[in-house]
Amino acid sequence: MRLSPLFVLPLLVGAQVWKCDDQTTCSSCASVSHYLGQEALTDSSSDTPLGTQLVGCKWCLKDSTCHADGSLFNPCSSSESIEYVDICPTSYPPSPPEFLPDWMSAVSGVIGNLTLLDLSLPGTHDSLTYDLSTTISDGGIDDYPELSKVLHLFSGSVDIIPGQIEDFIRQQARTQGMTITEQLDNGIRFIDFRTMKEKDDWYSLHMLESNEKSTTYLKEIRDWMESHPGEIVVLWMTKHGNGGAVGDDAYPGVSVEDKRAFWGQVEEIFDGLMLDTSVSQINVTTIDELVSRNHRVVVYAGDYVEFSNSSKFAIDGALIDNRLGSSVDDEENAYASEVDMFTNAASIKREDKASQKLLLRSMATSSPDFQVEAVAFMKFDPFASDEDQTKKCTDGFGIPSLNSWCPPTLMDIAQMGVYYKQLTLDLAYSKFDEGWEFPNAIYLDALDYDGRIRTGTTLPWGTIKDDDVEDHRLDNYPYADTLIGFNVKLACRMGGGNEGLCKSLLDMIEQRREVGGLVSRWDDTKYGRSSDWPVSS
Ligand SMILES: *[C@@H]1O[C@H](CO)[C@@H](O)[C@H](O)[C@H]1NC(C)=O
Ligand SMILES: *[C@@H]1O[C@H](CO)[C@@H](O)[C@H](O)[C@H]1NC(C)=O
Ligand SMILES: *[C@@H]1O[C@H](CO)[C@@H](O)[C@H](O)[C@H]1NC(C)=O
Repeated sequence: MRLSPLFVLPLLVGAQVWKCDDQTTCSSCASVSHYLGQEALTDSSSDTPLGTQLVGCKWCLKDSTCHADGSLFNPCSSSESIEYVDICPTSYPPSPPEFLPDWMSAVSGVIGNLTLLDLSLPGTHDSLTYDLSTTISDGGIDDYPELSKVLHLFSGSVDIIPGQIEDFIRQQARTQGMTITEQLDNGIRFIDFRTMKEKDDWYSLHMLESNEKSTTYLKEIRDWMESHPGEIVVLWMTKHGNGGAVGDDAYPGVSVEDKRAFWGQVEEIFDGLMLDTSVSQINVTTIDELVSRNHRVVVYAGDYVEFSNSSKFAIDGALIDNRLGSSVDDEENAYASEVDMFTNAASIKREDKASQKLLLRSMATSSPDFQVEAVAFMKFDPFASDEDQTKKCTDGFGIPSLNSWCPPTLMDIAQMGVYYKQLTLDLAYSKFDEGWEFPNAIYLDALDYDGRIRTGTTLPWGTIKDDDVEDHRLDNYPYADTLIGFNVKLACRMGGGNEGLCKSLLDMIEQRREVGGLVSRWDDTKYGRSSDWPVSS
């Protein structure tokens, strides 16, 4: 039986205050209401279940206190109050790490004579999803039938607070905790910049619109480039990560005029910093020359002709040789295809370079349909069986150590995903002398501080799983340093720098990799971490 909101209101107040007072962190506070779902409502005199209610608490940053919904003691306005756990502040250290903010210039003594298409850039997938709003993007969930279904099935239900479904979708859309500036500071040089014209302007997106207009993030990148004069950044600009799509397939319903007007803004923002393809060729021009010409922003634009008006300041997005592979819900095949990629990367890159193509490898994931459906039913349908839904979800992943937990958010999947990605990244690095190489760029999820990827179970916004393997909550793998180390090794093999410089740089990078810990594997039979699957060490 469903109760009308009016009927449960008098009972709600007492329960809320009690629950909220107990919470001492943003993450636990914002979880009480909207993430743990519905609390059973019982008549205290008889213990008879009366139905369900939503228990709501909000975190206020001003007094670091958890307040009941609508509390008069909350000094934060309703827009300042944090209602959803995924927008709690992240806890990365406040200042940039050593070395990574200027890594290209720090190793320019060895990579200076290489071209951009000789390098392997650490990248992020869906780079701007750290800042999604709760507004569904125009056509943004067309490619996600399961989420459209959830939206239609449950929105309007009396038990659901306005915005709750949208926040649920956001939690299936967010792959990164770090801001774009933090990503650049942490060594990322390949940005998966998604953008789309919405009603009034261009926003970034992943199902939902970004909070800010796309130009805001572009200006942030510009500012960062100004203060890091030796760094080169590649922006891959598309709506949906499909560099070959053109016209309406690329930007549905957007006019050529609107595309070119936006591109005009891009050129304006990066004025003086863009690669000018009439002067520099990315497969010929050296890194040193790109830097000295200030050709440091390289944009691969999807729908090149319509979007950029065939601008000399852009490269056709169709020249991204994007290799997808499987993701973590098919991890045995993912592992095999990553091994295949890294053993063949050298020869593929050689071919790609001749036609100015950039070899890109996805090591990312998205929310699989079976997981979205399972978590949606568990969260929004009081009559769904958690056991049945969890089984459907864990069967879908097929990870032997994932038995009783359905990852509730994309970030949970992402961190479990990179737990497995570290294996092939490290293998490829260790097999450099046997000819294994990285592609020109990799993009993946769950970037962590110091250019690492978080393989542990604690989410960036602080949600701890208290029944996990405690020692490994914040484990991570040195993603950026591994790729940078590879670049240095490759440059040195190609004759860059001298022996002494090569050795000192490699020693320094190896030390950085080791200080934070290399591959870390453990067995957590609830949270899907296995020490001997899909391969043993
Ligand atoms: C597109 O390029 C053509 C040829 O260079 C130029 O004449 C035209 O003004 C450009 N249009 C826009 C909107 O920039
Ligand atoms: C660079 O690209 C151009 C155009 O695709 C090609 O003609 C040339 O051979 C390439 N150069 C190298 C060094 O790969
Ligand atoms: C690049 O090549 C030039 C000319 O051969 C050489 O003087 C310089 O040391 C090289 N730089 C690097 C970083 O290898």
